[in-house]
Amino acid sequence: METVVSGIRSTGNLHLGNYFGAVKNFLKMQYENNCYFFIADYHSLTTHPKPADLHANIKQVLAEYLACGIDPDVATVFIQSDVPEVTELYLLLNMNAYVGELERTTSFKEKIRKQPDNINAGLLTYPVLMAADIIIHKANKVPVGQDQAQHLEMTRRFARRFNTMYGVEYFPEPDAYNFGKKLIKIPGLDGTGKMGKSEGNGVFLADTPAEIRKKVMRAVTDTGPQTPGEKPSEPVHNLFTIMNVVSDPSTVKYFKEQHASCQIRYGDMKKQLAEDIIRIIGPVGERIKEIVADNKYLARVVSEGAEKARASASLTIREVKEIIGYRPF
Ligand code: TYM
Repeated sequence: METVVSGIRSTGNLHLGNYFGAVKNFLKMQYENNCYFFIADYHSLTTHPKPADLHANIKQVLAEYLACGIDPDVATVFIQSDVPEVTELYLLLNMNAYVGELERTTSFKEKIRKQPDNINAGLLTYPVLMAADIIIHKANKVPVGQDQAQHLEMTRRFARRFNTMYGVEYFPEPDAYNFGKKLIKIPGLDGTGKMGKSEGNGVFLADTPAEIRKKVMRAVTDTGPQTPGEKPSEPVHNLFTIMNVVSDPSTVKYFKEQHASCQIRYGDMKKQLAEDIIRIIGPVGERIKEIVADNKYLARVVSEGAEKARASASLTIREVKEIIGYRPF
């Protein structure tokens, strides 16, 4: 039995990338493992959300995750800010995280490019808080998409560094996990880059079937292959990548052959892709509406989740403080 920790920032609605990068694996694992699933609402503060938006986003993301099939009766589902022990471990880990390595983190460099007017210390130490989220439950496995690979590498390093510094074998080094071997990156519909929450290139779990059809039909392609056997261009390759995770292998094979023989009609491919996406996430969209309206249920889930998460986290904090040298008089 493994301990699994999975998290999502509460900065916007869930999209297909989140679903295939992090949630789908979790759904399979939750029944056989000790699983923690949480909303990273402290991480979302790096972009300075308004108070009313913060709350609404946490609620929406929680409802969306539950709608996917995360079962709060088997997994521990909680909100990061309900578990203050995480911030205590974050503080302790910060003492052994070096400014140089934090400044070299890809996500930090990206953020300072994107928000040059708000380069706060929370952005710099983002990977330390993430490491605290994971190792506070002594996780072995973390289902994440490719964009989190470096953060997981840093988590392993911080765990190892703690163990070495104090001469203990305390924290396991957690592995990034995906059902295939490689971590996946779901591309956006705009022809280049990954699907994101704020890039305007995503299919969201809460989208209606009509919205999904419209978005997919507008996805960027090209003017069509000119020579038999030609490799798909980046935008078309991206559509095949999405098709690979939502469609039947025979469907992918059919359209690949059509492309290779220059007979492909992108309109037909997109129609099929939209229907396959709807088949998978359509039922989730329906459930989101019911769950988000059920405040009582959501309140019960997070209060029970916080209690379970705090039991595990406070045990770690007690042991870690003892290892560091905090002793009772
Ligand atoms: P976030 O909220 O950006 O994304 C949540 C999860 O979705 C994955 N993901 C993707 N996977 C494939 N293709 C995509 N286009 C795509 N976009 C997003 C992410 O890899 C992630 O697994 N820092 C994290 C939140 C976090 C966390 C943690 C995760 C905080 N603490 C501890 C795991 C464990 C983040 O911003 O993810």
